[in-house]
Order: sequence, then structure tokens, then C-alpha cells
Amino acid sequence: MFTLAHLSDPHIGPLPRAQIRELAGKRVLGWLNWNRGRRETHRMDVLDQLLIDMHAQNPDHIALTGDVVNLALPGEYPAARAFLERVGKPEQLSLVPGNHDAYTKGGAIRLLSEFDPWMRGDGAGAHPLDEMERFPYVRIRGKVALVGLSSAVPTAPFMATGKLGVRQVTKLRAALEHLGKEGYCRVVMLHHPVRRQDAGPTAMLTDADRLTGVLRQIGAELVLHGHIHTGRVHRTKGPNGPIPVVCTPSASAAPERARWPASYNLLSIDGERGKWRIRLTVRGFAAAGHPPEQLRDERLC
Ligand SMILES: [Fe+2]
Ligand SMILES: [Fe+2]
Repeated sequence: MFTLAHLSDPHIGPLPRAQIRELAGKRVLGWLNWNRGRRETHRMDVLDQLLIDMHAQNPDHIALTGDVVNLALPGEYPAARAFLERVGKPEQLSLVPGNHDAYTKGGAIRLLSEFDPWMRGDGAGAHPLDEMERFPYVRIRGKVALVGLSSAVPTAPFMATGKLGVRQVTKLRAALEHLGKEGYCRVVMLHHPVRRQDAGPTAMLTDADRLTGVLRQIGAELVLHGHIHTGRVHRTKGPNGPIPVVCTPSASAAPERARWPASYNLLSIDGERGKWRIRLTVRGFAAAGHPPEQLRDERLC
């Protein structure tokens, strides 16, 4: 059996001091937002407790579905990288970026170099990769194929939408087809939700239909995402039956303040081609003042 841990949206804080010129444009709104409440919602002591509990479960691999930073300020990256190093070595941790990691155009470029080792496919070598070359990346771990997508694009103020683009989805189709023929359990990771209604017009994946089209025709065994800071499971159509789609709340959400306190998923994967068995166990904070515990346990397929 293979155990994959899934966490998302750590929103590492506190925000560093920023220069006035760095807060121009969209970042001013993000800065105000952070100081008006987000800094009390995303608590690093909560995240630390969750990480200790997750590491104690000894997962075979960890998937992190984005929003590591907040405003993509240059000063946020040292703490963000230290956090990633604490979560797992690049070969043990697969990251896909979120909209906050690509908050501005500069942020979108910077994240590729800052988070590079955790977003590199098997056999990619060490040469620099641009976004087009990098995504989707594929990492094979035992019978499991992890497929990492980037839906992180810089957007206008008040917008948090995501987009995959035609090129990435075309490459995804080919990768899923190949991995399916090889008999792997295909796990697709992205930041934004697959269903538009989960996020609304200002935060949805604008080309979700492209993704669901590929999933419907080619298939995958599991889809993981974050972004909506909510624990949720639904199914999307696949060629051989429904494909489970799983979201997890923010890994730093304070139980005193957040509607969905911090938790993470453990996905136990067993079986073989055409007969995969996947079990979901959710662990996290049931209430303030309690240590992380098991919150839910169900068979997905
Ligand atoms: Fe987020
Ligand atoms: Fe997000």
C-alpha cells in the first residue's frame, strides 16, 4: 500500500516588511487583507502542529497544492523555502503553485526558481525549465504516477482565477493516456477546483471544461486540489466511472477563526490497473485547544 499525504494553502506568515514600491498595484489590496484578518486566520503554530502529526503518520509521499506565500513579495521566499524543506525533500514532496504564489507577474517568474526542486518531473535533469516546459510534470513513485499542473496565473485586483491553457491540457492528455496504458494509478494535482461552482466567477478555474473533458475521455484515478480552504469530496466523470476529486482546507487555518480548521488528507492507495482501491483519512483540528486527530475515514473507490 502507498500512502500519499495531501495538504494545501499554508499561506506562510508573517508578511515581511515591504518597500512602498513593492506594494504598488494589486499587492496593496492583499496587504490590507492580510492585516485586516488573514494574519490571525493563518497561524504558523497551527501549521507546525499539523506537520508534526502528518510526519508521525510516515507517508510515502506528500502533495502540496499551492498558496505557499501570500503576495509573492521577494521577502516571503526565505521562510517559504524553509517551510518546504521542513515538509519534505524534493523527492518526497510534490508542489503545484497557487494563485498567491503567482500574485504578480514577477511572482509568477520568481516561483519557478524559488520552488524549482519540488516542481520537477522525473528525468527533467538540472537545466532551467520555463513554465511551458515544466508543467505538467510527472513523478513515478511505485505504482503511483503524480501529475502536477499549474493553474497559477497573475490576475487583476479582486480576482483569484486560474487557467491551465491549451498547451498544458494537450500535454496532460498525452501524459494521462501513456500512464494509463502503463497501468499506473494516476493522481492529478492542481490548485484550483475542477468544478466552477466551488469557487465562483472571481476564483474559479476559467478553463475547467478543458480539464474535465480530458478526465472524461482519458481518465485518472484521483484529483487533488486546494484554493477554497474547504474539506470537500466529489466525483467527476471518467471513461470507466466516476473519478474522486478531493480538496483540503488551509493547513494553517486557526480553529478559533476558520470555518474549516486546518487539516490534511491521507490517501491510502492499493490494488492494480483497473482495480484501484483508494481510502481517504482526514486528520486535523476538531476544535481549538485540541491536538490534531482523525476527523473522517471513507473509501473513495
Ligand atoms: Fe489559499
Ligand atoms: Fe488560492
